[in-house]
Amino acid sequence: MTRAKDKDLEFGLATRAVHAGQEPEPLSGAVTLPIYQTSTYVQDGIGRNKGYDYARTVNPTRQALERNVAALEGGTHGFAFGSGMGAIHGVLTLLSAGDHVVCGENVYGGTHRLMDKVLTRLGLTFSFVDTRAVDTVAAAVTPKTRLLFIETPTNPLMRLADLAALGDLARDRKLLYVVDNTFATPIFQRPIEHGADIVVHSTTKYLNGHSDMVGGLALLTRDDLAEQLQLIQKSVGAVPGPFDSWLALRGTKTLPLRMRQHDANGRRIASWLEQDRRVQQVFFPGLPSHPQHDLACRQMSGFGGMISIELGSLERAKQMVAGTRLFALAESLGGVESLIGHPATMTHAAVPPSMRQAMGLTDGLVRLSVGIEDAEDLIADLDRALG
Ligand SMILES: Cc1ncc(COP(=O)(O)O)c(C=O)c1O
Repeated sequence: MTRAKDKDLEFGLATRAVHAGQEPEPLSGAVTLPIYQTSTYVQDGIGRNKGYDYARTVNPTRQALERNVAALEGGTHGFAFGSGMGAIHGVLTLLSAGDHVVCGENVYGGTHRLMDKVLTRLGLTFSFVDTRAVDTVAAAVTPKTRLLFIETPTNPLMRLADLAALGDLARDRKLLYVVDNTFATPIFQRPIEHGADIVVHSTTKYLNGHSDMVGGLALLTRDDLAEQLQLIQKSVGAVPGPFDSWLALRGTKTLPLRMRQHDANGRRIASWLEQDRRVQQVFFPGLPSHPQHDLACRQMSGFGGMISIELGSLERAKQMVAGTRLFALAESLGGVESLIGHPATMTHAAVPPSMRQAMGLTDGLVRLSVGIEDAEDLIADLDRALG
């Protein structure tokens, strides 16, 4: 079972990002951890090995990534999966048929689809609720509820959930508390410090940051849960390969630096969009006009580069996404390059239209993943595309 090294937790986040989980390779002293491209390891004798037996169970490159991000999240255990959805699926299989889950209504569309279309067939039940108000969440808890799953900020409406208040609720009602921290990253928000039992990530996004691999992670502190997750990880086998693990690990080294730039660009662009009369509404927790800005300042130390804007109609949204040159029209987020997307037909197409409408995810909503380019160039690009 991968355990973060205690000494890694003594350092600040930027130091952890560069060093946690990694030591010079013993054979040659290579400073950069090698890609251990192997499926198996020679054994000294029956039942005697160097801690590595078969690469589905354990691989040194993957293990370094698991230790690295566990240390960043303030966790002690990390489990890497082949995608963010793989990590979320792994965590949800801690449950048994008959268990009930309370989940945020505005989570990533793929998370909603996994719950609604796949796991309900296996006997789990789900309630999707607005997680902005603790009372709403509390009212959805039943005697069968075992797990609370949230995103904050949510994708794409940038709504916040009060991490600490929901942590108290989860503790009182004995629920496993799972937080998808993909948008904020451990650089700006550390849910474990607010009572989360498990943090999940789509490593594909900010952690990797270069749009060149797909992966997921689950990070936690509880030994009992870690043992169960290890069993799931090795039994299901949805693990990332060594090269993808290495790419993600290279990405996390610069995560604090990149997040600073995403955040600076995000604030600048959100303020610019807010004063532009062609934009009806801007969703960004860093704006003082965001209804939960105070909460954002309490539980986040930065806001990142995710911004959504309401343009009023599908026509205007189509016009905008067709008009940018630097912002590429693409799924995904969190890379160094800026992307633009239309949630209703892309990331959230799997969410039933009635549910999209009820939560305010309209056809006129456009989502921006602001990269680390020059803010002036990005603003000029948006200005042109707004027409
Ligand atoms: C917040 C969030 N969680 C999870 C996922 C799923 O991650 P992956 O695409 O790596 O499976 C995504 C993907 O967009 C996401 O945005």
